[in-house]
Amino acid sequence: MTPSSTDRNGADPHAGSALAVDLRKITKRFGAVTACDSVDLALRRGRIHGILGENGAGKSTLMKMLIGLVLPDEGTICIDGVEQKIHSPSDASRLGLGMVHQHFSLVEALTVWENVALGETGRLDPTAIRNRIGDIADQYGLVIEPDAQVGNLTAGLRQRVEIIKCLRRDPSIVIFDEPTSVLTPEESAQLFESLRHVVADEGRAVVLVSHKLDEILHATDDISIMRQGAVVNRLLAEDADAPTLARGMVGREVSLRSERAAFGLLAANDAPTAVHDNQIGDVVLTMSGVTVRGLSGIRALDDLSIELRAGEIVGVAGVEGNGQRELGDLLSSLVSLDAGSVSVNGEHIPAGRSGAMAKAGVGVIPEDRHDSGVVLDMSVAENLVLVDQSNVANRGLIDQHALEAFAVELIEQFGILCAGPHAPMWSLSGGNQQRVVLARELAQHPVVLVAAPAAAAAAAASREAAAPRVVSVAE
Ligand SMILES: Nc1ncnc2c1ncn2[C@@H]1O[C@H](COP(=O)(O)OP(=O)(O)OP(=O)(O)O)[C@@H](O)[C@H]1O
Ligand SMILES: [Mg+2]
Repeated sequence: MTPSSTDRNGADPHAGSALAVDLRKITKRFGAVTACDSVDLALRRGRIHGILGENGAGKSTLMKMLIGLVLPDEGTICIDGVEQKIHSPSDASRLGLGMVHQHFSLVEALTVWENVALGETGRLDPTAIRNRIGDIADQYGLVIEPDAQVGNLTAGLRQRVEIIKCLRRDPSIVIFDEPTSVLTPEESAQLFESLRHVVADEGRAVVLVSHKLDEILHATDDISIMRQGAVVNRLLAEDADAPTLARGMVGREVSLRSERAAFGLLAANDAPTAVHDNQIGDVVLTMSGVTVRGLSGIRALDDLSIELRAGEIVGVAGVEGNGQRELGDLLSSLVSLDAGSVSVNGEHIPAGRSGAMAKAGVGVIPEDRHDSGVVLDMSVAENLVLVDQSNVANRGLIDQHALEAFAVELIEQFGILCAGPHAPMWSLSGGNQQRVVLARELAQHPVVLVAAPAAAAAAAASREAAAPRVVSVAE
């Protein structure tokens, strides 16, 4: 499809919206990988620009070049018509650019307001910062307690802090890299609603990087689709539909049911995957009368009983902060019980004993992969055996050949885009890091799989392939 530069009546839809950012022929290579390949991108004031692409397409790298975290090998960057070399985030900040990153960059030991103030120079005025947080919270519907310690916050609330931290500097060009992966649908809708006003009233330019077709269709004006480092399609949101976007992302028709489900392309009246009675097996997980007191001594889980059978998916719904996190922690052996019991396949599991749940066959895909899913400085192969080395170890020593063979197999099976089993985890794109977590947990053939909010959809989508038993801890 050719780029749409005029609307159906022949008028230029961009007329009157000034060019805030003009990227020309931007290329970035990491060794043999060309992350961005001669990319042109124009961001206009008063408009929201959606960037869509599969995992590893080069979206974050492109944005990092705009914000000064990665230097382009080739190409030019013009901001408000003037060519700029952006060497650091502070250069970018001076030019009015701000970014909410895909991964959190908060200091857990500090409070919300201290995190928001990080990077400020001169004398800090805590009251002014707290007030500013309150103003932003009201304006964007991002309510947060300024004195809460970030380490105690859920992933959804941490994301709010990241967004507030970015907006506090009042950037006129704002980049959101997957901002809604840990927000509830209502929070996302509220954020976009308020962004829409700010963009229109204050002439800002906004970039929204996302995998969610629905979000891109409803929240943006212009759309660029990236594939393998290049922009393969540009169109106006009003001319776009979900199948066209999905086709652009993967470069072919999206026809498999599981793929259509992953893209959110199933119609509301599509029949759900039939689960026959004979697919539901014996009870695999029994939690009875489970009580866990959080750090504050308050009962986070209060006499909770859940029974899960093989082949079943149990969704746990509820407003954030009502015990979901503790439920995940309990099934990860991170907290012990104050009352009650947990059994897997009829065997009592000593909750809180390190590794006991994993040993009993409970796999966990955590909410925040950087916090508790991967070790960024280790290789992909090492991350794939973090939970269990028995497949690749001999008398307590890791057999490097076995490790490599095991990793190559999983990289292939789960389509993990990386330079190879020895690539450091930090060099993978966000989505490919998540695939490593999923591959590791599913390779254990878990009896029970716990998927924290952001991971729940991926885990459910993989059920048909791997047939694990899933308990999904959803918000
Ligand atoms: N610092 C780096 N060193 C080596 N390779 C890198 C580095 N940063 C990114 N890459 C590679 O560049 C490619 C593009 O990565 P990028 O993070 O831009 O993808 P993305 O489109 O944001 O994907 P996702 O949707 O998964 O976040 C990937 O193959 C990634 O492994
Ligand atoms: Mg990314």
